[in-house]
Amino acid sequence: MKKSKNNILPNQKEASRRPEHISTVIDPNNVPAFLKSYLEGKLFYIKTFGCQANIRDEEIMAGYLSLAGMTRTEDPKMADLAVINTCAVRENAEDKVFGEIGSFKVNHQRNKEFLLVIAGCVMQEDGVALQLTHTYPWISLIIGTHDVHNLLPLLNNVVKKQQSLINVRSFASEIVENMPSNRLSSFQAFVNISYGCDKYCTYCIVPYTRGRERSRKAIDVINECKKLSDEGYKEICLLGQNVNSYGLDLDDGTNFASLLEEVAKLGMPRVKFLTSYPSQFSDDMIEVMAKYSNIVPWLHFPVQSGSTSCLKRMGRRYTREEYLDKVRKIREKIPNIALTTDIIVGFPGETDEEFEDTLSLCKEVRYSSAFTFIYSARQGTPAAKMEQLDPAIQHERFDRLKAVIEETTAEHSLTMVGKTFDVLVIGPSKKNGEVLTGYADNGKPVNFKGPEYLTGCIVPVKILETHVYALMGELAEDPLILKAKEVAFHMSRDPLLKEYLALDEAIRNDESIKAIANKIVIEKKAMAENFTNSEEHSKHKANYIEALESLKNNPLVSNRNELISLVEERLLAIRDSIR
Ligand code: SAH
Ligand code: F3S
Repeated sequence: MKKSKNNILPNQKEASRRPEHISTVIDPNNVPAFLKSYLEGKLFYIKTFGCQANIRDEEIMAGYLSLAGMTRTEDPKMADLAVINTCAVRENAEDKVFGEIGSFKVNHQRNKEFLLVIAGCVMQEDGVALQLTHTYPWISLIIGTHDVHNLLPLLNNVVKKQQSLINVRSFASEIVENMPSNRLSSFQAFVNISYGCDKYCTYCIVPYTRGRERSRKAIDVINECKKLSDEGYKEICLLGQNVNSYGLDLDDGTNFASLLEEVAKLGMPRVKFLTSYPSQFSDDMIEVMAKYSNIVPWLHFPVQSGSTSCLKRMGRRYTREEYLDKVRKIREKIPNIALTTDIIVGFPGETDEEFEDTLSLCKEVRYSSAFTFIYSARQGTPAAKMEQLDPAIQHERFDRLKAVIEETTAEHSLTMVGKTFDVLVIGPSKKNGEVLTGYADNGKPVNFKGPEYLTGCIVPVKILETHVYALMGELAEDPLILKAKEVAFHMSRDPLLKEYLALDEAIRNDESIKAIANKIVIEKKAMAENFTNSEEHSKHKANYIEALESLKNNPLVSNRNELISLVEERLLAIRDSIR
């Protein structure tokens, strides 16, 4: 393929510009006809690195490729089109990407029509996209994080002109609604509430790769959640780089506590959210979490460091004491809450004392689990210009921190032994097909023996023992009964079935229908009594037929008859989806 001269290249400095006006665009989901004829019937493969925002982008890109008539394959060798969705947050995540791109040379050699798309955060970094197209000439298209919704028109350009293309805008001034999406799970869903981040922690690349913070309108978020609830989803996770600043840019009084409350009211069995910025986690948030039992008793509360001076260099806008105060307040109102965190060790200039502060904070908070990272310098961020620490010191500290986290994780797991928890079943364990794996509502992984058909159900499991990374338990109810409850759950969620049941109820309570039904009984009885009197018999028969007709023509009844065939179809679909 030749290379396009119309490339759009990113500029990390530009990424921090706030667009003057953010508009909402409704995606019409058009598929260019030329592209459709090129892609229809072919196979696509997607490999995603990194966080939930990238997973959500994968689901959307898969939605677009399906619209173009393609089918997903999990075997990269079979792919006619592959997407590599990259993560820039740490160096080791970036390195994995390059190996992955190299492996698609074979597809290109075997199939001249093969298309390779590189997407995600790494592409937003200065100079990377251009360099990649030189090193790996089999790349067809590079798109940035702001152009996921333009995947099909951009691919159309590539295929029509037979030219590779780079399209990476530095920032976006639009929020796109109504994008197609092939969700990876039929019971757990991520819902974006905001894009980008305005916090500019000095180590972090995200504000440069995802741009300034933009909130979706509350109504769009709620409608998406409502649809998921109607489809029978069990768990929603609201996503934003910093959920607690949701709505501040909308200037309409919406904030995250009120949005969370609206979503909880929809009645989804489990509602959670990622990620909270500690100093913006408000008292209102604590109230809402405590009030709704379907908001899970789990909070991811990234501290990054336990030392006030180190937090200051990181650009985090809270002190150790303020963080601990929040933790105390949260635990006071929600005693059973499980707290998890992110910690960076070996940040530039981190002293022994500062590191000891991190250890002592972890011992005080006693996290139920934590992600620990060795600091990784990211080009273009302020911390990359600070004096870096010796890697040997970083690794030694990392091991010491890990030991403390393992201790508090094990301690938290032990408090669960002997108790019964609701577990959302993810599916059979990869190591042992007889064992199911799932998550307790506090986020802890739980394994137990049970039939595969419980995948996607929320089931009670009694915790028997703890292992290093998961708890072992036993099912506390008959699996067949649990499956029957699952069917009832799906029926209660389906809007069509709800409408049908409501109509049935209305018919039974309607006075005019009761009167017609009475008339039918009376006339039928009179027909039997006048069996030998043909004149009387035919008079009552005519009345009887007239009453039957008026029943049939009653709007409530005729609506019901129309609904019945739709309901039958829906029941079959529900049966197939939960089999
Ligand atoms: N607010 C985001 C944070 C994204 S990055 C969210 O939604 O989770 C996730 C975590 O990676 C951060 O909390 C931080 O602990 C870690 N991290 C970010 N930049 C890093 C870097 N340069 N080196 C090491 N770890 C980093
Ligand atoms: Fe990164 Fe800090 Fe935002 S960690 S995503 S800049 S809150």
